[in-house]
Amino acid sequence: MATTDKSSLKLTKENLEAEDFLPLLGTDFVELYVGNAKQAAYYYMAAWGFQPLAYAGLETGLKDRVSYVLQQDKIRLVLTSPLKSGGDINRHIDAHGDGVKVIALWVDDARESYVETMKRGAESYFEPRAKRDADGEVVLSGIHTYGETVHVFVERKNYKGAFMPGYRPWKPFYKPTDVGLKYIDHMVGNVGWNEMNKWCQFYAKVMGFAQLVSFDDKDISTEYTALMSKVMSNGNGRIKFPINEPADGRKKSQIEEYIEFYNGAGVQHMALATDNIIETVTSLKNRGVEFLTVPSSYYEDVLDRVGTIDEDLAPLSELGILIDRDDEGYLLQIFTKPILDRPTMFIEIIQRKGAKSFGKGNFKALFEAIEREQESRGTL
Ligand SMILES: [Fe+2]
Repeated sequence: MATTDKSSLKLTKENLEAEDFLPLLGTDFVELYVGNAKQAAYYYMAAWGFQPLAYAGLETGLKDRVSYVLQQDKIRLVLTSPLKSGGDINRHIDAHGDGVKVIALWVDDARESYVETMKRGAESYFEPRAKRDADGEVVLSGIHTYGETVHVFVERKNYKGAFMPGYRPWKPFYKPTDVGLKYIDHMVGNVGWNEMNKWCQFYAKVMGFAQLVSFDDKDISTEYTALMSKVMSNGNGRIKFPINEPADGRKKSQIEEYIEFYNGAGVQHMALATDNIIETVTSLKNRGVEFLTVPSSYYEDVLDRVGTIDEDLAPLSELGILIDRDDEGYLLQIFTKPILDRPTMFIEIIQRKGAKSFGKGNFKALFEAIEREQESRGTL
């Protein structure tokens, strides 16, 4: 395991002691269990610029559920709702509200990924199974991770269809333009008190990940609230999973608020990458996405902290985009308010200009912004 050295954020093979036995090629899809997949699909298309890709439901032979698949560049979302009462998906939604059920990982060999992770102590979600149609074969297998969240390994090297067998292409008339989102940069899990190390060890031992960086409560605290975080990464750096746990503060940590409303551990946010954060965030705002704001004083001395950047400060400050620098470059980032009814999941937009870190310099301003939201919800 890498140590908790905060000065070294370099993501290279050499200092990552990740044992890349799977290996993971990328995030294949993220599946959310939602109360109303049809309307959620419209939200992710209209507000977020996702494109319709595939559909499965009664018309494709499913009896108990419906799924809409959306795509924007390399990001694929699957939105699934139950069609009948009393099943597992219903229970999941009752317990957690809408939320991420599956973080699917693209692998070369889903059978081997299952065998290797099970050998290292994973808990099975489902055994390897092949799904076939006229476009070929997809092999899937699954293991559990924190809370009720699962990882599904997806092997699609012998498949040329739109998504996977069981789905048909979905081509509605309504197709809004995209907003320039490219890929999933990282996905963050919130876990309970004193559980961060357990889940970091899970990713190290079972998945062969290494620890990239660690933040303690001194890094991530305001006058009132605190949390701790460690970032786990696979060997090629395409999969990065920060894991947060609450820490003691004078008031209630945002992680506790999450755990309370989600009823346990789960995905806190997805960070989606763009090559032009000013354009992307301008589009998102125009389409109704709401972002956290920082006081304008943030921009008065930000360039003293981060040095010269390519962008004009005015549009960044107007949009509320945050800036941070590490020894490899800088990054631009912004966070939405919760995108669901419960104050659980949100989305980060990130543009990396060399930096491989996570915006530590913004934590204080950001968490004070979150506290203002918690205050308004009466959950601080
Ligand atoms: Fe993040």
